[in-house]
Amino acid sequence: MNTDPLDIERGRDLLADARSVIILTGAGISAESGIPTFRGEEGLWRNFRAEELATPEAFARDPRLVWEWYDLRRQKVLECAPNAAHDRIAEWLTRNEGVVLATQNVDGLHERAWLDVGQVDGGRLLEIHGTLFRVRCTACGRESPHREPVDSSSPDTLPHCEACGGLLRPAVVWFGEALDPAIIGGAFEAAEGADVCVVVGTSAVVQPAASLATVTRETGGRIIEINPESTPLTPICDVSLRGTAVACVPALLSDI
Ligand code: OAD
Repeated sequence: MNTDPLDIERGRDLLADARSVIILTGAGISAESGIPTFRGEEGLWRNFRAEELATPEAFARDPRLVWEWYDLRRQKVLECAPNAAHDRIAEWLTRNEGVVLATQNVDGLHERAWLDVGQVDGGRLLEIHGTLFRVRCTACGRESPHREPVDSSSPDTLPHCEACGGLLRPAVVWFGEALDPAIIGGAFEAAEGADVCVVVGTSAVVQPAASLATVTRETGGRIIEINPESTPLTPICDVSLRGTAVACVPALLSDI
């Protein structure tokens, strides 16, 4: 992989002239933190069956199994730290109010990186597929933060709602479920108004997230993509940086 310095400069010029920017990230940005992607060689969906673990039907059938898997993912993520790409984006967010960050990741690393440098603005961090570190009650719908280990040895030891006693589930979006309209609506609004959409580490095959960049393009904005591989978005990108997130994000965003 050899990222042309001229491409980095072209990307930096686009960003220097931009007043509003949306950054869309996927699992690839966390790969260098040690978190597996979904569709890569060691990808989660290559080693686990999504329909047995990440659907409402799977949870209704066997909540212990689903919780066991999510708890394992949580514990693994807690052993990992934000990398230089998360850090650089967080620092950029604190300095530029016109930047919105929409992530498909549920690993919470963007939030951790942002907390390290300042107070997180929830309106500018849009976790469109939810997060591993919140739960939602299956009975009353109440959501709350939740980071404690989950004991999935029996149905009774699974986490239950403090308000109504209902079974709690991870507040992530599962296959077949709708996205939170306020969150995805906010992301599309940002994409429509953006001068530039920076897409980092996503295969761009899962909708509607993948359309965010297309919307920016259709409304007159530009697209910068960072990914070691080409994706379905590559043909419509103005700048393609063919490298890893840690190699390219700091170089793209430093001092602008
Ligand atoms: P994928 O696993 O589909 O794609 C990861 C992308 O990251 C690929 O395009 C890789 O080439 C790229 N990549 C790998 N290492 C990288 C690195 N070091 N730096 C930059 N890029 C790198 O993951 P997503 O696109 O995030 O949804 O997947 C989208 C959604 O599919 C996920 O949010 C998840 C999954 O099903 C839900 O769980 C709802």
